[in-house]
Amino acid sequence: MKEYTSENLREMYLGFFEKRGHKVIPSASLIPENDPTVLFTTAGMHPLVPYLLGEKHPAGKRLTDVQKCVRTGDIDDVGDERHCTFFEMLGNWSLGDYFKKEMIPWSYEFLTGEEYLHIPSDSLAVTVFAGDETAPRDDEAAALWEKAGIKKENIYFMPRENNWWGPAGLTGPCGTDTEMFVIRKPKCSPTCNPDCSCGAFLEIWNDVFMRFNKTAEGKFEELKQKNVDTGMGLERALCVLNGKTSVYETDLFATAIKKIEELTGKRYGESEEVTRAFRVLLDHVRTATFMIGDEKGISPSNTDQGYILRRIIRRAVRYGRKIDLPEGALAKIAETYVEKYKHAYPELETNKARIAEELNAEEAKFSKTLQQGLKEFEKCVNGIERKNAFMSAKDPSYVPETVIGGKQAFHLYDTYGFPVEITAEMAKEKGLTVDIAAYEEAFKEHQEKSKAGSEGKFACGLADHKTETTRLHTATHLLHAALKKVLGEEVNQKGSNITEERLRFDFNFPRAMSEEEIRAVENLVNEKIKENLPVVMKEIPLAEAKKEEFTGLFESKYGDVVKTYSIGDFSREICGGPHAENTGELGKFKIVKEQSSGAGIRRIKAVLIHE
Ligand code: ALA
Repeated sequence: MKEYTSENLREMYLGFFEKRGHKVIPSASLIPENDPTVLFTTAGMHPLVPYLLGEKHPAGKRLTDVQKCVRTGDIDDVGDERHCTFFEMLGNWSLGDYFKKEMIPWSYEFLTGEEYLHIPSDSLAVTVFAGDETAPRDDEAAALWEKAGIKKENIYFMPRENNWWGPAGLTGPCGTDTEMFVIRKPKCSPTCNPDCSCGAFLEIWNDVFMRFNKTAEGKFEELKQKNVDTGMGLERALCVLNGKTSVYETDLFATAIKKIEELTGKRYGESEEVTRAFRVLLDHVRTATFMIGDEKGISPSNTDQGYILRRIIRRAVRYGRKIDLPEGALAKIAETYVEKYKHAYPELETNKARIAEELNAEEAKFSKTLQQGLKEFEKCVNGIERKNAFMSAKDPSYVPETVIGGKQAFHLYDTYGFPVEITAEMAKEKGLTVDIAAYEEAFKEHQEKSKAGSEGKFACGLADHKTETTRLHTATHLLHAALKKVLGEEVNQKGSNITEERLRFDFNFPRAMSEEEIRAVENLVNEKIKENLPVVMKEIPLAEAKKEEFTGLFESKYGDVVKTYSIGDFSREICGGPHAENTGELGKFKIVKEQSSGAGIRRIKAVLIHE
């Protein structure tokens, strides 16, 4: 049997469609541009949504690419043979160009052709849409498959749960699809079909015939154009084509497995528990590598994408402990991925140092509290078990307690940095659950106490509310204003992230700042600190804030009345807070780094020094 590698499958796929008039386009960022309803790019079509809706794509109507994707919905299942939080999707698109009668024969040709995947036709099964009130039964697709060479008994009509795809977020293009499967073994029963979990059918590819747009009201509107959107998961396809049982046995993970073996002295496959820990590490470190190394560079934080990244890294650290992975090892595993992927994703090589830095920093931070947090967790579990034993002995009808309280889960998060999902997972291992609603309640209460405001999303980028972060937050506003004064009013905030140690601020500016400009900005901020200006919060209607030219993101998420913060006449921003009361308490402001953070975006890291 031919052995397929990730490199040759990518090349073969793109080449096949290039020959058929498609332009090869690069993978987009993992952070979607066009869809505020989700945090990550979840499918190849995701970055193409505007074009599927009718906008003209500069590269034409036939496109093909390999798109990096993240789906974290099944993160707790990672550790089994097939779940991954990161994957690559091979895909091709017709933007109002060809449709079923071209796509189905092409799919057949790619799957069975000798110079392509060379799967025997009799080992293929397909599903097509069975029809409902939105779209009729897809007899056309079934006939095209049969004509191409698929045996009639291997064509299955399936309902909406199986053969409807999309949208990727809450709204957007979607439609009926046809899915392709490799038949691995005989059916488990006469009624067995591609939806059966017995392992007889393994999915390899999916063609979506995109004719609808799902609106925010949940309606399906006919699109102006008929599109094709296809997706072949690289990991899954390699696994199926090479006759493996697990995606982790594909070439994508080989060097990383070796590295973990070297670092731990354990062997992948030596026991179920060890293998599971390997897989969690393999997957999570790879995902973290791509998130940090992305062109839009994600950093661990307590909100949005940053929170998912933090959770993934911390889960990796926890599983690493199970197999004696030494501290600092995540960055070493990440290095093997940079090597493996850098040709397909050059941004990983560009951001190599950042990947190592962020991983090391986050690992070190969590390692400090992990041991104690685990002890605290054990105490909590023991408490429940002791109480249950005591009460059951006294009262045979006593119903044992199985829930860890929200306050305790919040304590683990707030003091030891345990994302609640990790606590919930640890609880599950002990046959317990976490009261998530009460956790959220405790979280909210804490937020209110620290006067975080109700914006929730922290447009200003504040991660937590200790005194130092509050000061850094105020310093961020001063920095923003100073940049506008020194570099020009057109400079605007593009991103902000604050930890207890430093602030990080991204802004639009076309070139590196000169030494003089950096000093001028620093001096201006320090001047304002010396003036000991009061930081004044006012809640005013959004329209008024706009009129008075407060800086901020004028988006609907702010609601009608917004919180504004003014620092003398120097800085006026819409922001959720919290802030220091006076600039005098900030200490000395120092810029420690000025660097590029993508095309036309600069990044400043700065600290406050208290003497
Ligand atoms: N958009 C389709 C998928 O993700 C092709 O499976």
